[in-house]
Amino acid sequence: MTDAIVSLTDVHKYYGTYHALRGITLDIRAGEFFSLLGPSGCGKTTLLRTIAGFEDVSSGTLLLDGKDMARVAANKRPTNMVFQSYAIFPHLSVAENVGFGLRRSSMDSAAKARAVDEALEMVGLKGYGTRAAHALSGGQRQRVALARALILKPKVLLLDEPLSALDKKLREQMQNELRRLQRQVGITFILVTHDQEEALIMSDRIAVMFEGEIAQLASPQDLYRRPLTRRVGEFIGVMNVLPATVSGQEADIAGLGRAPVTPDQAPSGMPEGTAGAGIRPESMSILYDGETTTRRTASGEVVEVFYYGDMTYYDVVLPGTTKPMTISMKNVAGRPVLDRGTTARIAWDAEALVLFGDT
Ligand SMILES: Nc1ncnc2c1ncn2[C@@H]1O[C@H](COP(=O)(O)OP(=O)(O)OP(=O)(O)O)[C@@H](O)[C@H]1O
Ligand SMILES: [Mg+2]
Repeated sequence: MTDAIVSLTDVHKYYGTYHALRGITLDIRAGEFFSLLGPSGCGKTTLLRTIAGFEDVSSGTLLLDGKDMARVAANKRPTNMVFQSYAIFPHLSVAENVGFGLRRSSMDSAAKARAVDEALEMVGLKGYGTRAAHALSGGQRQRVALARALILKPKVLLLDEPLSALDKKLREQMQNELRRLQRQVGITFILVTHDQEEALIMSDRIAVMFEGEIAQLASPQDLYRRPLTRRVGEFIGVMNVLPATVSGQEADIAGLGRAPVTPDQAPSGMPEGTAGAGIRPESMSILYDGETTTRRTASGEVVEVFYYGDMTYYDVVLPGTTKPMTISMKNVAGRPVLDRGTTARIAWDAEALVLFGDT
């Protein structure tokens, strides 16, 4: 791909005998908001540090902006990194922190001051320059760290779980701001996160990693709707997977019965015989007394109820199965939340099924 700003080909990384990156091939486009998503220890930070030049690759090639980075030091690369723990200097002022990266630049002091002001305005900290950095809240510190990275105008900004230390509300606000900021500055952002919701909300594309390998690279919607494997499906949101038998274009699913299926519902190829049939909680609903439907129906017993205010999640056991399915329902006026132990009628859509070769 010619417009790739970051291009990795068959990159391996060993720490001693430990094989941390196992053949990563990846192109990231200029201007993209790209996320690396995966469980703890899968190699996200290693991959990011490899791109930044803090780690060298054991084999394979890494190009940044079309140039081979094999012998290019971290500080000579067109990248900059924002860390999880806001690595700001507490004894310096906000402006001194933000201007830190410019200390060796040939800009005159008036130009530096302007650049600092601009960077602070970008991250919503206009007028905070003279504050002591140690007197800032966690969210403000992370903004300072961002401003300090952005002032150097890198082509690629690498962000290693930058929001994970913040509480939920603040994290959501910063997600919003980060996304807006990325659009505004047009710099390629590579975000490392183990929070799948964060990755879905923020990214143009996501690479899901397990054990040093990319399991799937796709847009948030493709990843959610068409996971290649059961493991990816279960990692991104909730995926109920039932044992099924597939024969041609029909699946016989435990607890749900027979349904037609098409090849596009099997992203890694149509299985034949034993398979796993996945369905998301929002593709099923509970029917209330007297409610009729043209959708497919089944029945099950409500074994657990999780009330979230706007939504209720029901764990329901279908006949002939043991593992409960999760069904999500929007809470609306006049519709009571069901109790545990209720036998419920369920409606579901065959088009929403995803088939996996692995059960
Ligand atoms: N310097 C090192 N020496 C030896 N092993 C390392 C080193 N750095 C990382 N590892 C190992 O490599 C694997 C990947 O680590 P990495 O930090 O990239 O994971 P991660 O996906 O960022 O996880 P987390 O979400 O917990 O931050 C882990 O098993 C880790 O223990
Ligand atoms: Mg990490």
